[in-house]
Order: sequence, then structure tokens, then C-alpha cells
Amino acid sequence: MFSVTKNQKQAHVIVCGNEKGGSGKTTTIMHLTVALLNAGYKVATLDLDTRQQSFSRYINNREIFSKRSNVNLSLPDHHTVKRDYSDYVSDRENNELLELLQVITDVQSKNDFILIDTPGHDGYLMRMAHSMADTLVTPMNDSYVDFDVLGQIDPDTGNVDTLSHYARTVREARRQRRIADGGLMDWIVVRNRLTQINSRNKEAMYKSLNNLSMQLGCRLAEGISERVVFRELFPKGLTALDDLENILSTPRTNASHLSARQEVRSLIASLKLPIDELAKKRQEARDAYLEKQTKPVDTIGM
Ligand SMILES: Nc1ncnc2c1ncn2[C@@H]1O[C@H](COP(=O)(O)OP(=O)(O)OP(=O)(O)O)[C@@H](O)[C@H]1O
Ligand SMILES: [Mg+2]
Repeated sequence: MFSVTKNQKQAHVIVCGNEKGGSGKTTTIMHLTVALLNAGYKVATLDLDTRQQSFSRYINNREIFSKRSNVNLSLPDHHTVKRDYSDYVSDRENNELLELLQVITDVQSKNDFILIDTPGHDGYLMRMAHSMADTLVTPMNDSYVDFDVLGQIDPDTGNVDTLSHYARTVREARRQRRIADGGLMDWIVVRNRLTQINSRNKEAMYKSLNNLSMQLGCRLAEGISERVVFRELFPKGLTALDDLENILSTPRTNASHLSARQEVRSLIASLKLPIDELAKKRQEARDAYLEKQTKPVDTIGM
């Protein structure tokens, strides 16, 4: 059980998770990171996919591109948790958990958001991260094979018969979170790589997902389409949300880029992040600062 108490905790934790590999977790978390950075929030990021480290590489590519091209790209305060190679599983889990907690403790009071990418397989750290999430975003490909990771479908009715392993993992994470600090996790499932074609599969999936969302207590966000811009910018560490018109030497912004931006913005809006509360806190800090500035110097701190 993690020991980050409510009082210490300040940053809002967003976790991207799905036990299904290749569902779009890293792509989604990178776009959310850049969206929040560009909106002026302080963002810490954490890559828990200790094997692939694609999120770390994405951010590293961004840093290198920013320096090489002399473009001032916003960057998060990025961290990883190293894999522990102790002989006993209990030691490994314990050491990795301690490191995870250390990172969270270090960054939580300095940032508005902590964004965590998780691996596409079950594991101790992945489960711990889920139990820390204020917001869990689960991208999934628009296919019943991917759906199966969440729930099994009755082939006749299209309704969910049985909850699958990942759905049960999230339910357990929610339960642990409630016990730990009374926190509630908001779970949002977002369909990824949607095609423009209106197929029967798309409609059937939508119906099944609605059925699932009622059983799981999760919300459905509007989907993200299959677009080249979501996969071509990784080597430069850029995203569809960056100012590609001015950054790239051969700007290729087109209608698809603009739609991609709109889709990510809609996703952010549907996450209902505590952005108003943060803005209020900032305003209070600014007011306090301004009040100090208007007082004669020798009365400050008296
Ligand atoms: N909306 C999209 N349009 C086009 N390509 C996409 C989209 N989303 C993801 N991809 C591509 O799909 C692949 C898998 O995406 P990504 O690496 O983000 O998934 P993941 O869930 O993090 O995978 P893993 O479980 O292996 O960590 C990548 O090649 C990525 O570029
Ligand atoms: Mg990934």
C-alpha cells in the first residue's frame, strides 16, 4: 500500500494504462503532457515501462531536437524508476516501490500534474501506479480483441458477460485507493486509432463500451483517429500540439493536423481535470504576492 497521504499530495496524478500492448498509452500520455505544459502547468512525468522506455525516449528526443534546432520546446520534469534485480520477488517489489514513492514525494509539491506511463503488461509497479491515479486514461484500439482485456462479450447481445483481468485490476486499485486516503479515481476509456469509415463494428463497439462503462463506473471520451501525425513525430519528440508550422523546416500542417489537435483538446476537456481549482490556487498566490509588493519593505514578514 502506498503511503502518500492526502495532505502531502498536491499534484493531480494522471495514469495511462491498459494491459493490452500497443493500445496508444505512450502516444496519449505524451500528447497530454505537451497539452498541459503548453497551457502553462508544471508537469512531472514518470515512465514505469522499465523495459521499453518509449515515453523516456520520446521526451529525450524532444530535448535533443529542441537544442539542435534552437527551438524552445516545453519539457516536463521527467523521471524513471529503475528495475531492481534482487534475488527475491518481495525484495524487488519493495525496492521498486520505495523508488516510486521517492520520485512521487520529490515531485508532487512542485508540480500541478504528475503523468505516469505504464507498461502493457501486469506487474507490481503498474498496479501501484493505478492505485495512485486521480485520473486513469485507458486508450484502446477499436477492436473486440482489445475490448476483451476489459470484458468478455455475449456474442448475441453484445453485452458484457464477465469482467476481464485488467478491469478487475482497476477495480482493486480503486478499492485500495479508497482505503489509503479516501481518494476517488476517475476512469476514462478512450477509443484510439478510429478510422473515418462508419462501420457496423464501430457502432457495435460503441454499444458494448457503453454497457461496459455502466458496469465498471468508467466514462467514455470521444475517440482519437488513426492519423499519421500521431506516429511520425516521435524521432523529433514533437506532437500534433506543437507549433509545427514554425518548428519544422518543411511545415506540413494540414487539415488532419488541425483535427488531431482538436481531438486531443476534446480528450483533455472530457478528462475534467481540476484546472479551475489550480487556476484559483494560482490567483490566490498572485494576490498574496501582490499584497506583499504593496506593503512597505520593512513590514513584510512582520
Ligand atoms: N492515433 C494514432 N494514429 C496513428 N498511429 C498511432 C495512434 N496511436 C498510436 N499509434 C501508433 O501505434 C503504436 C502503438 O502506440 P503506443 O506505443 O503509444 O502504444 P502503447 O500502448 O504505449 O504500447 P506498449 O503497450 O507497447 O507500451 C505506435 O507505433 C504509435 O505510433
Ligand atoms: Mg508504451
